[in-house]
Amino acid sequence: MRVLVVFDHPRRDSFCGAVLDQFCEGLQAAGHQAEVADLRREGFDPRLPLVDEPDWNDSHKVYSAEVLTEQERVARNDALAFIFPVWWWSMPATLKGWIDRVFNNGWAYGERKLPHQAALLIGTASNSAEDFRKRGYDTAMKTQLALGIMGYCGIEKHELVLLHDVMSGEGQRKALLARARKLGFTYF
Ligand SMILES: Cc1cc2nc3c(=O)[nH]c(=O)nc-3n(C[C@H](O)[C@H](O)[C@H](O)COP(=O)(O)O)c2cc1C
Repeated sequence: MRVLVVFDHPRRDSFCGAVLDQFCEGLQAAGHQAEVADLRREGFDPRLPLVDEPDWNDSHKVYSAEVLTEQERVARNDALAFIFPVWWWSMPATLKGWIDRVFNNGWAYGERKLPHQAALLIGTASNSAEDFRKRGYDTAMKTQLALGIMGYCGIEKHELVLLHDVMSGEGQRKALLARARKLGFTYF
């Protein structure tokens, strides 16, 4: 399967970047092809301009050249993955803006939906699973990001996986990197 892996972190040499590397290794080991969209290094502008604003009366609106290029990249893959740090119990702004612009009306929802076989969201988090559970942040994130975006856009197999306690030392980080590799190997 061809998998587009969308990555949003200010530093490529971050822990999140190591998660990306392990995940892609897992994909390749399972015989999949990984294409990485590194939004920060590519300079993607997350602000939705007028030309990319949906026209609710026109499902065939032609969006900006930048969005058309991103849509081509999405279209040539069979499945999607997203790797990002959890910021304020959500995804960072660049990734959010990429979705705002690229998953647009008439192409990802509305008259047409995404045909992709699966979407996996992986977020790294400094807080524990218990911290997330206590306030319902885990359920909120799953509802909003996995169901509310991927499911809404027609991708029935969707999941959000949180890699918790990323600041809890080298042993924990090693275990999380092994989990990231396994997700790449098994999810698609
Ligand atoms: C702006 C900002 C907001 C954050 N919000 C959260 C949060 O809501 N929950 C959480 O568990 N961690 C939060 N964190 C911690 C990040 O998730 C953590 O720094 C990141 O996953 C570590 O990976 P990295 O070293 O690759 O950046 C936040 C960090 C920043 C910079």
